[in-house]
Amino acid sequence: MVGLPARGKSLISGKAMRYLAWVGIPARVFNVGTYRRQDTPHPNAAFFDPANKEGEKARRAAAEAAVSDMLRWFKEKNGTVAILDATNSTKARRRWIYETCKNAGIDTLFVESVCDNEEIIMHNILEVKTTSPDYVGLDPEVAAQDFRNRIRNYEKVYETIDEDEKQYTYVKLINVSSTVIINQIKDYLSSRLVYYLQNLHIKPRSIWLSRHGESEFNLTGKIGGDSNLSPRGEAYARALPALLKQSGIPKNAKITIWTSTLKRTIQTARHLAAETGYEKLEWKALDELDSGVCDSLTYEQIAERYPEDFAARDEDKYNYRYRGGESYRDVVIRLEPIIMELERSENVIIVTHQAVLRCIYAYFLNLPQDQSPWMQVPLHTLMKLTPRAYGTEEQRYKANIPAVSTWRAKGTSAKHQEYPAGLK
Ligand code: F6P
Ligand code: PEP
Repeated sequence: MVGLPARGKSLISGKAMRYLAWVGIPARVFNVGTYRRQDTPHPNAAFFDPANKEGEKARRAAAEAAVSDMLRWFKEKNGTVAILDATNSTKARRRWIYETCKNAGIDTLFVESVCDNEEIIMHNILEVKTTSPDYVGLDPEVAAQDFRNRIRNYEKVYETIDEDEKQYTYVKLINVSSTVIINQIKDYLSSRLVYYLQNLHIKPRSIWLSRHGESEFNLTGKIGGDSNLSPRGEAYARALPALLKQSGIPKNAKITIWTSTLKRTIQTARHLAAETGYEKLEWKALDELDSGVCDSLTYEQIAERYPEDFAARDEDKYNYRYRGGESYRDVVIRLEPIIMELERSENVIIVTHQAVLRCIYAYFLNLPQDQSPWMQVPLHTLMKLTPRAYGTEEQRYKANIPAVSTWRAKGTSAKHQEYPAGLK
């Protein structure tokens, strides 16, 4: 990362890491500030003055410690993408990083966040003064003033990436991707990362997730298929507009409705679309996990007919691929364009299916792959996700309309099991 303090570097680093982990690429953030805090936990602005030799020395040592841990991580843990989250604000510092990585056989991609929009900077300063461990216990006003002085000290020596650095692979994000400059991107992973970064925005918004209303297949415990809603599912579809309202919609917010191409999600969103006039989109990529030869069977029938498959799925539910169908891993890959589009979008309500919803949820909440396929996503419940600078806030709204449970515990094939109380 490259950029002055309060330019969203840590936010970008965190999001990129979450995205990479979600698509299965081992990634880790190395934050230089964390290393510096081991010796200097609460520095004031003077520590960052370029004329302060002691400060300069301590910061250099922190950067060296972070880079050395990073190189060790590549070597010993087979890491793929490390994100060095620091200001790296001088050409000399970038040259050192570039050369050190090159000697270790590692490619460098510089991501510079440039921002002169006062509103965004103020927002970031506010975020830092309320969340940074540098300022714990300090009066917020004093913290904000000190942080502004820290930025001023960095500005004295800051050099943006320019013509002299044409030999580097870099991307410059100017005012949160209003303008993006890309230089020397040479491989697929970098271009995917750059495309992801280009889609990011920081406008406040929410994403609502709901499964379709209870379906006829849900009642009989069959998986897959393309059945209609049950009468209770239909009642949920009618209740959805009020439930969405109850969850809190920002004034004048425009919401887009996304469904899959299967009848049960389209039926669920029907009244919402008609009552609100919100734009509606059907996505094939949001269709339920394809259960191949097991489509339209109950778990019990699968356990009887394909006992080895049933056991293999329990053993590694994320990677297990149904014969002629999909695994959770496959679903994540086909959802990648959905995530890209979601990042670009503002308010969206997605009406989709159990497995697909788990995958989308895992992206936003950073849920590990061994947990996400077992997550509880009850029917007739609306989830509201609100991205914040350091994570995603979640709220759930339950409609007062009963529905069967389609959750299944490992090792059982019973239908309609209740999720154990107390288990998260
Ligand atoms: O039972 C509803 C359902 O959406 C099925 O169509 C799908 O196969 C299943 O849930 C996915 O859940 P799990 O991965 O837990 O079997
Ligand atoms: C720090 O936060 O103390 C620090 C050294 O950061 P950077 O390397 O990003 O200037």
